[in-house]
Amino acid sequence: MAEKDITLTVNGTDHELRVESRKLLVHAIREDLDLTGTHIGCDTGNCGACTVYKDGEAVKSCLLFAVQADGSEITTVEGMEDQPEAGMGNSDLHPIQEGFHEMHGLQCGYCTPGMIMAGKALLEENDDPTEHEIRENISGNLCRCTGYQNIVKSIEYAADVLNDREPPESPVEHEGASMETAPDGGVETDGGCTGPDLTREYPGGDQE
Ligand code: FES
Ligand code: FES
Repeated sequence: MAEKDITLTVNGTDHELRVESRKLLVHAIREDLDLTGTHIGCDTGNCGACTVYKDGEAVKSCLLFAVQADGSEITTVEGMEDQPEAGMGNSDLHPIQEGFHEMHGLQCGYCTPGMIMAGKALLEENDDPTEHEIRENISGNLCRCTGYQNIVKSIEYAADVLNDREPPESPVEHEGASMETAPDGGVETDGGCTGPDLTREYPGGDQE
């Protein structure tokens, strides 16, 4: 199988990789760079779990071969805490990560890295989007748990922080919990969260 040497700058670090021509970018990120915060849900461009921020736009990394990304600059969810906006809210996290924590924007968390990266791309372009624009922006990202409502609120929370507005109060009680970035770039708490009824069913999982 033909192999090619490529260079990727990921989360500010340059990497030289030798990859098979057929290797998908998402596999290079996860397997060669061990950045497993970028998830794989379908491998066919349908779910958005593999979304990364590449050269200024959100891309589904299962739709690109790694060799097509040669020379590009990529941010994954693991790099969000190192972005200039990190720490603007009430934690060291990026406002989007903090928004997902505060507004309960995730349940199982599988879609979350992709949602966060799609949200970053939107806010880079338009730091004060309408609800409609947020919903449009994440329309390529599927979530089977949340019903989307709180994902939208999480991105709105980040927009409030970026625009120096007081974000809404969290509907979740964080009893003695602290926020930290998990090893895969998601948000980890030290427990103590009580919030909405997680057994609630969302009919069909369609966007509300
Ligand atoms: S894994 Fe890439 S869109 Fe689903
Ligand atoms: S939180 Fe479970 S898929 Fe979105």
